[in-house]
Order: sequence, then structure tokens, then C-alpha cells
Amino acid sequence: MSKHYLMCRPDHFAVEYAINPWMHPEAGADRDRAILQWETLRKVYLELGHEVSLIEPIEGLPDMVFAANGALVVRGRVYGARFTYPQRAAEGPAYLNWFTSNGYERVCEPAFTNEGEGDFLTLDDVILAGTGFRTDITAHKEAQEFLGLPVVTLQLVDPRFYHLDTALFPLNGHNVAYFPGAFSAGSQEVLRTMFPEAVIATEDDATVLGLNAVSDGTNVVINTEAADLQLELKRRGFEVVPVDLSELRKAGGGPKCCTLEIRG
Ligand code: ARG
Repeated sequence: MSKHYLMCRPDHFAVEYAINPWMHPEAGADRDRAILQWETLRKVYLELGHEVSLIEPIEGLPDMVFAANGALVVRGRVYGARFTYPQRAAEGPAYLNWFTSNGYERVCEPAFTNEGEGDFLTLDDVILAGTGFRTDITAHKEAQEFLGLPVVTLQLVDPRFYHLDTALFPLNGHNVAYFPGAFSAGSQEVLRTMFPEAVIATEDDATVLGLNAVSDGTNVVINTEAADLQLELKRRGFEVVPVDLSELRKAGGGPKCCTLEIRG
């Protein structure tokens, strides 16, 4: 199925502060390399037949490339982001502004802290929502009320997997892949109950951000290093499209972090 994605070119990308365990400002990152890797990701989407819209990158917002955090868009309704850390705070209004200037009328300026699709992943009839590091559980209720889809709270417990989209991705509208160790015991049980057929990823897959993948139901765009997970996805009949986003991983991001899905 053809998708519509919003992306932000990493023109101002840098690792200047550390707000997750992947970030090491003293080691820095190579912006030109990040741009090349990001351009490849964008081309992959276009070649798969998806539509890609672009938001203008803003100087002084080195993490703005991680468009997934900018909002949650379901049924044409835009639930805005409200960032945890002051370094990213200005991204919330910037992304909301993109939507309002592009004709989206049903917009919610959130009262509660949430990092968009970083912590909200949408399936056909349910939204899975992470909490524990960034998104506040009160935002789960706010999103449910605004979007009219049930929101299921999942508790994240491992700081390496600080957003839900670092530990789980929807394979299609009704199944997911995930790394159990990122979740509390209760949330693992919830996931087992909801998704008995889920793809279970290993810690090795998770620590190369292999779960920060983007599936259109047929093709899975995934970090090239996630070898075991790619094998299992192929075994399940998915087309695997590996991408190298190693430079962006230095900020704690992968393919999904760079991609905000706009659902009509
Ligand atoms: N450096 C960014 C942060 O810590 C990375 C965000 C990654 N985005 C995501 N959807 N997981 O906020």
C-alpha cells in the first residue's frame, strides 16, 4: 500500500547534547555522511512508490531530522508533539505549523508531554503507546480522546530503548515485531496477548536499532546491521530493504525516526 511520509533533511544535524544513551557529543557525527544516508532513505521510499513531503530544517535544531517525533497523524487529524527536553522543544510548534500551513484543519496542540510517533505506533484498530522515558501517560489519554482510536499503554524499562519505536514496529495493520527486554513484565504479557504471532527480535537486532524499521505491509525498510531480524522477516514473506543509517544512529535514530507517516 502506498504511504505518505514527512521527512526533514539533516542539514543541521549534529550530536551536540546527550538526551539518550546513544549520544556522545565528544565523539560528534559526520553531517555530510548523515545527509547522504538520509538521501538514500528518501530515494528508497520514492522507489517503493510512496509519497515523501519535506519540512524545512531549522538551524539550531540538530535532532529535527527525526520527523517521527514531530506529530501523530491518524484519520487526517494531527496530534502535535510536546518534547521532554528543552533542546527539542521548538520542534513541536515547527511541525504543527507545517501541518496547518499545508491545509490540515483538525489539529490538537497537546497539553501533555509526548514525542509523536516516537512513542505512538498505529495499527488498524489500535494505537500502541510507550511511556517511561519521554511520553507522559496522560498524553496517551489525550491522544485517544482526540483520535478516537483505543490507545494501549506499554511501559518501557531500558534507557537504550527510550522511545517505543526503538523497540517495536508494526509489520502491517495487525501484527508487530518487538524486543521483549525493552518492556516491563506486564507490558510483555500485554504484547503476547495482543500479538501471539509477533516477530520476536533478539537483543543484537535491537542494539543496532533494527526495530526502528518502517513497514508498508509488504516492504520493510530496516537498518542493514539487523541480520537475524531480516532473516526472520524474509521467512515471514516480507521484502526486506536494508539501509545504512549508521551516522544517524549516533543520535539514537534509525529509519523510522526519520519518517513521520501521514495517514489521510
Ligand atoms: N536524539 C533524538 C532524541 O533523543 C533521537 C530521536 C529518535 N527518534 C525516534 N523516533 N526514536 O530525542
